[in-house]
Amino acid sequence: MDSLSPLLLSSIIFFSCLTTSSIATTLDIKRDESSLLAFKALITSDTIKQNWSTQTSVCSWIGVTCDSHGTRVTQLNLSKMGVRGSIAPEIGNLDSLVSLDLSGNYLNSSIAPTIFNLTVVESIHLYDNGLSGSLPRHICRYNRLQRLKVLDLGSNELEGDIPLSLDQCSQLERISFGFNKLSGNVPREIANITKLKVLDLSFNNLRGVIPQQIHRLENLQMLYMSSNELSGSLPPGIGNMKALQFFFLTGNALTGKHPLWTLI
Ligand SMILES: *[C@@H]1O[C@H](CO)[C@@H](O)[C@H](O)[C@H]1NC(C)=O
Ligand SMILES: *[C@@H]1O[C@H](CO)[C@@H](O)[C@H](O)[C@H]1NC(C)=O
Ligand SMILES: *[C@@H]1O[C@H](CO)[C@@H](O)[C@H](O)[C@H]1NC(C)=O
Ligand SMILES: *[C@@H]1O[C@H](CO)[C@@H](O)[C@H](O)[C@H]1NC(C)=O
Ligand SMILES: *[C@@H]1O[C@H](CO)[C@@H](O)[C@H](O)[C@H]1NC(C)=O
Repeated sequence: MDSLSPLLLSSIIFFSCLTTSSIATTLDIKRDESSLLAFKALITSDTIKQNWSTQTSVCSWIGVTCDSHGTRVTQLNLSKMGVRGSIAPEIGNLDSLVSLDLSGNYLNSSIAPTIFNLTVVESIHLYDNGLSGSLPRHICRYNRLQRLKVLDLGSNELEGDIPLSLDQCSQLERISFGFNKLSGNVPREIANITKLKVLDLSFNNLRGVIPQQIHRLENLQMLYMSSNELSGSLPPGIGNMKALQFFFLTGNALTGKHPLWTLI
């Protein structure tokens, strides 16, 4: 070591750091690539079939967006690309994913539960597919989905309860679960998600009452709960929800009147 000049030493340190970090990022993008290839293996889509070629960079694949350094996949948007088949669990390994949009396709599996273990994702759009199964009971727990703003699962075949732990996703601004087969009650806990602007639970099999606490959603602009099996009276607090512009509650067995609007 005595014979090494400080300059040489610092350049050795510099280059070894550089090499370590570029190896790490190469491994990351390779891992993202293999996750996408696992996804590709369970679907059919004429658009993706030829395009997602290992001869080209994953960042140039149709529907795939990377960060500015090309080191991680940050967006996957395959909306309306005629995608058929199932969602591979490996999609949950894309742990830098900020936005996932697989809407308007023919996906007919359950929603791979690994999707709900993503950590930096801000929007999940899976509406208008044939997805079945139920939502994970512990959704939003264990520090998962803590940046999620949009969860749009409308127009699928989802069944089971709305998990109580959904309120642990405190950044949610839009929940769209309309046109599914969800059952059980509307959980009171939903009223804890105070950033919510849109809540769409219409056209499901939900029963019981609309939670009294709903008035706590002071940013809620749109409330859709029509065509369920809801009963009881309208929570009086609905009249005090300042941001509320629209609410659709027809096709239930509700009683009571909103002071400003009739039931529409
Ligand atoms: C895949 O599609 C993208 C976007 O349309 C295009 O830029 C790219 O050249 C295509 N790659 C191949 C291998 O066809
Ligand atoms: C995905 O792409 C479609 C079509 O280009 C676009 O309309 C949609 O807004 C995109 N989704 C997201 C989440 O950006
Ligand atoms: C899902 O779609 C695939 C491909 O279109 C088809 O082969 C399969 O039978 C479908 N499965 C179900 C459960 O509908
Ligand atoms: C999601 O994370 C939780 C907590 O770490 C873990 O128990 C669970 O097995 C994970 N689920 C999947 C599908 O990876
Ligand atoms: C969420 O709502 C439930 C039921 O209304 C309540 O018991 C609980 O304390 C709330 N949690 C938070 C964190 O506000």
